[in-house]
Amino acid sequence: MAAVTVGDDAFVNEDGDTDVITPWSVQSKNDTGVDYDKLIKKFGSARIDDELLKRFEKVTGQPPHHFLRRGIFFSHRDMHTALDVYESGKSFYLYTGRGPSSDAMHLGHLISFLFCKWLQDVFDVPLVIQLTDDEKVIWKNLDLDDAIKLAHENAKDIIACGFNPDKTFIFSNLEHIGNNPAFYRNMIEIQKRVTFNQVKGIFGFGDSDPIGKISFPPTQAAPALSTTFPFIFKGAKVQCLIPCGIDQDPYFRMTRDIAPKLGIPKPALLHSIFFPALQGSKTKMSASEINSAIFLTDTPKQIKNKVNKNAFSGGQATVEEHRRLGGNCEIDTSYQWLKFFLEDDEKLEVLRKNYTSGDLLTGELKKELIDVLQKLISEHQARRSQVTDEVVEKYMVPRDLGFVLNK
Ligand code: TYM
Repeated sequence: MAAVTVGDDAFVNEDGDTDVITPWSVQSKNDTGVDYDKLIKKFGSARIDDELLKRFEKVTGQPPHHFLRRGIFFSHRDMHTALDVYESGKSFYLYTGRGPSSDAMHLGHLISFLFCKWLQDVFDVPLVIQLTDDEKVIWKNLDLDDAIKLAHENAKDIIACGFNPDKTFIFSNLEHIGNNPAFYRNMIEIQKRVTFNQVKGIFGFGDSDPIGKISFPPTQAAPALSTTFPFIFKGAKVQCLIPCGIDQDPYFRMTRDIAPKLGIPKPALLHSIFFPALQGSKTKMSASEINSAIFLTDTPKQIKNKVNKNAFSGGQATVEEHRRLGGNCEIDTSYQWLKFFLEDDEKLEVLRKNYTSGDLLTGELKKELIDVLQKLISEHQARRSQVTDEVVEKYMVPRDLGFVLNK
């Protein structure tokens, strides 16, 4: 992909596209946010369509998760291949991750993990979770030991999502890679096959970026190759499936080029849209913009204040006008957020109709959202408080996860 570097963290395409999507920055000029159809074309992925949803249902015997039904996971690569593998009686494995840049994760980070938890439950497969503390040392200039601490703090939030302890391996890059020669070998296999020009094109790196950035992508790519984890897969070349925000796709486009050269299946992907910032869909929720985000550590009062003060409204300027013209759910943050977290389809549809007709006011819609979020976050906090350092340790020990290729 041709790209022009415009700064350390972002690039725009030479075609003048105003949506800027990289693993480090998401910006759109449109009120309704990123143009995902355009993105699918540009990235060369495929839309998750009704046929795929039906197949999901047939293979798993479960209705698709509401993230799938509502287009929150909207794009994929080779998901049919992963289902073929599963239907033929073989197992695949899941891989996802988190870059621990602060001790508090936000709601946007939960999306991939909640979805992974559902996938792990319905397919009963192993999951590896990479904590890229090394990435954050390089990008955010963090101290090495501080980054490892953040990785362990984030692991607690991840574990609180409910992953199966017998089938989940969570690792900090800084702690694990030095003890796993197979990981380093795969990084080298990838490094020798990717040129500087290619990473510049894929990630927008510039001449003044530290070489740590340029050499980092193989570190995120390697866990998509099952041979990276001999203690789990015992050398077998196993299909990988990666659920993630679509901002992470560049890493895996690169990985998919290389995997077949190593005799390993190309990793399949399921991509989510971005959970928008409170201020609206032009940008994703970001941990460095405190007022754009609800954190998993926020109190009920903070949640209420942030939503009431900052949630972008698709309603009208006065109550009279709102009753007459109705609100616009497409740009209203409260409605958009309810799509992610209000599981009840019927209730969501009633809220949509009433807001669109003007029967429901912005304040009332915000109240619905506040109730949903306060419950979600207080339940998360209760589970997290049970996750001790010893529990984290158990998930982070390299070990046999009972994987068998042919189920
Ligand atoms: P990180 O920590 O930026 O994000 C972790 C996961 O959350 C997704 N995400 C979002 N999804 C929806 N809406 C948002 N507003 C939002 N913000 C973040 C990201 O797409 C990601 O899936 N380098 C990675 C860590 C990583 C990784 C991986 C991610 C390592 N290996 C494999 C996915 C798959 C990172 O810094 O993610």
